[in-house]
Amino acid sequence: MKKIVIEGGNSLRGTVRVSGAKNAALPAIAACILTGGWHKIHQIPALRDIITIKNIMSSMGAAFHDNDDRSLSVNTENIFEYEASYDLVKTMRASILLLGPLLARLGKARISLPGGCAIGARPVNLHLKALSAMGVDMRLEHGYISAEVKRLKGANIFFDTPTVTGTENIMMAAVTADGRSVLNNAAKEPEIIDLADMLRKMGAEIKGDGTDTIIIEGVKELKPAVHTIIPDRIEAGTFMIASAMTHGDITIQNCRPDHLYAVIEKLRAVGAEIESGEDIFYIKGPETINSVDITTMPFPGFPTDLQAQFMTLMCVANGASMIEETIFENRFIHVSELERMGADITINGNQALVRGRANLLAAPVMATDLRASASLILAGLVAIDGKTEVNRIYHLDRGYEALEEKFRALGANIRREEA
Ligand code: EPU
Repeated sequence: MKKIVIEGGNSLRGTVRVSGAKNAALPAIAACILTGGWHKIHQIPALRDIITIKNIMSSMGAAFHDNDDRSLSVNTENIFEYEASYDLVKTMRASILLLGPLLARLGKARISLPGGCAIGARPVNLHLKALSAMGVDMRLEHGYISAEVKRLKGANIFFDTPTVTGTENIMMAAVTADGRSVLNNAAKEPEIIDLADMLRKMGAEIKGDGTDTIIIEGVKELKPAVHTIIPDRIEAGTFMIASAMTHGDITIQNCRPDHLYAVIEKLRAVGAEIESGEDIFYIKGPETINSVDITTMPFPGFPTDLQAQFMTLMCVANGASMIEETIFENRFIHVSELERMGADITINGNQALVRGRANLLAAPVMATDLRASASLILAGLVAIDGKTEVNRIYHLDRGYEALEEKFRALGANIRREEA
């Protein structure tokens, strides 16, 4: 077991480069199941979740090659297995992304139901309802989804609520289905557009991605693709918040300002100075951090995956702010750990009232999920009176590439140690 140890107080300075987006890389790798031949995906981040999806797909017969230029070659020519076991799925809910492509390629899939997780119940009922509408025979038995279909048929699908991986799953199922599929109330996240771009390179006919209606005409055949994953907007946002918190002055390379408008607007209201170019941010933290309210929303709203980090910023703001979480019902688990560092937060349902204070105090804390880990590291960057120790950092390694090394290069006093 490793932990991250931080001595707070340093202002961040310098330049950092953002890695490829975890939540775009996972569906892109899953999409390779749709057809054999060597696909090549650039800008794959080095993360635990990427290793997990590679392990699951390897056990199904897929071949992978990590190239020197940090791209990943994937070939699913010999895919023969169609089961993702509980042992693997319980460590990564995104394994559900294999369901759509397996049904499209093999007409069969057996995937463990992901179950609840630290941030909420996270059902997959909308994935299953949409697949049923496409003709899939679905059984839930012994904790597994067993799905079978002779040929997927295009369907008119309505998602009760926009779901990111649900939309991705059905896009992958629909690209080679018979006829047209219309996905209504689809998710609009940049990761959806990135998957559509990759699928189009494979020969798919998709329109409307990035809007709430995606139209897909099924095609007979696909071919392997070469694709570059978009930069990770959540990683970029985490560095932006870190600069705002530490009176920093940093340059963030390899980011997409158009993926972060809601975050830019909130950080400007906080008092940060932000300049951006096509794929670069310059962000200078304010002397005094203004308190600002946020409500998490599907894209283009403020992302739930930055809620915990923004809350940490508000813990040291001048005044009180209201943080409202509308996507996941239990995404305040970082609060009790922040309280151990002296934060003043009152939770009422899905709202957290944060009363900012001059300082947080260093303390040993425990990471409870991926984005909560990042929020505790941010807290450690500004905490006074000793060392903050963030334990259970395997959560962090699922989704942030070398975060402590990147913070160290920006001047933070941070290191990884044996727990
Ligand atoms: N929902 C349902 N039924 C479903 C699917 C979703 O009720 O069948 C509900 C969820 O419970 C939630 C809402 O719909 O209340 C939205 O969930 P969504 O399905 O969009 O989440 P997801 O696809 O499971 C992805 C990201 C998450 C990110 C959310 C929201 C991936 C692999 N995961 O999850 O990322 O928080 O979208 O943007 O893309 C993370 O990276 O730390 C992470 C949790």
